[in-house]
Amino acid sequence: MIKSSASLTRSGPHPAHLWIFSSLGKKTIVAVTGILLVLFVLGHLLGNLTVFIGPEALNAYAEKLHSLGPILWVIRLGLLAVVGLHIFFTMLLWKENQKARPKKYIASNPIGTTIFARTMRLSGLIVLAFVVFHLAHFTVRVVDPSYVTMTTTLDGRQVHDVYSMLVKGFSSVPIVIIYVVGLFLLTSHLSHGLSSLFQTLGITNLRIRKNYELAGRLVAWLLFAGYTSIPLSILLSGLAKGAAQ
Ligand code: HEM
Repeated sequence: MIKSSASLTRSGPHPAHLWIFSSLGKKTIVAVTGILLVLFVLGHLLGNLTVFIGPEALNAYAEKLHSLGPILWVIRLGLLAVVGLHIFFTMLLWKENQKARPKKYIASNPIGTTIFARTMRLSGLIVLAFVVFHLAHFTVRVVDPSYVTMTTTLDGRQVHDVYSMLVKGFSSVPIVIIYVVGLFLLTSHLSHGLSSLFQTLGITNLRIRKNYELAGRLVAWLLFAGYTSIPLSILLSGLAKGAAQ
């Protein structure tokens, strides 16, 4: 139902009439928060790749992050807010789409969409569950309590031995399977999210949009290769060492 502009001015702007609750507003919030999350994922990967330089490089990187103290908590809370907004506005968009399409189609018509596009909500939820597991694993360290006591010396100071924690963590086949599956779903989510971003941003030139979409997919799969290289190389080098003994 279309309300008259008089009813809006009399009672003041209802929250539902604010720009962020318009269709474009919601899509923009999902896109902007999505970009922020991709930037985090990219930065986190670059930090973690220092594992290939050696124990000192990774432990020094982790120590630098922890030494941020209260700033680290501001970043963590900011990240949590971004995740919350991303999910909340995705739900609103989903509800809006449901309303626009009240009747269930007898047969869906998936032509022109990919499996990744059709499973965005499911992959998003599983990725969330994976991140919760990951935090329990390496940040809260409850999956294997022995991680808590792993320490080493760095520049004469006692610090947490993140390197040994990763080596022990990824020596377990089930853990590596959880990570590879979680990272695959993250990639499928990002692949569609990054490629549809350009439609949201209003890029109408089909040729340019196709190129951007391809670039989005490429970034998602590069992240997959980068992230999975860590658990897989630790597991495989451990298996190779075991076989040589
Ligand atoms: C193989 C893949 C990954 C590895 C090896 C890895 C490694 C780590 C490590 C070692 C920590 C703990 C740092 C510390 O407290 O010293 C950590 C924290 C964290 N990771 Fe990952 N990570 C991986 C994938 C991911 C992915 C895909 C995401 C997000 C989608 C993610 C999100 C986070 C978050 C949010 C934290 C908590 C940061 C904090 O508050 O301190 N990680 N990760």
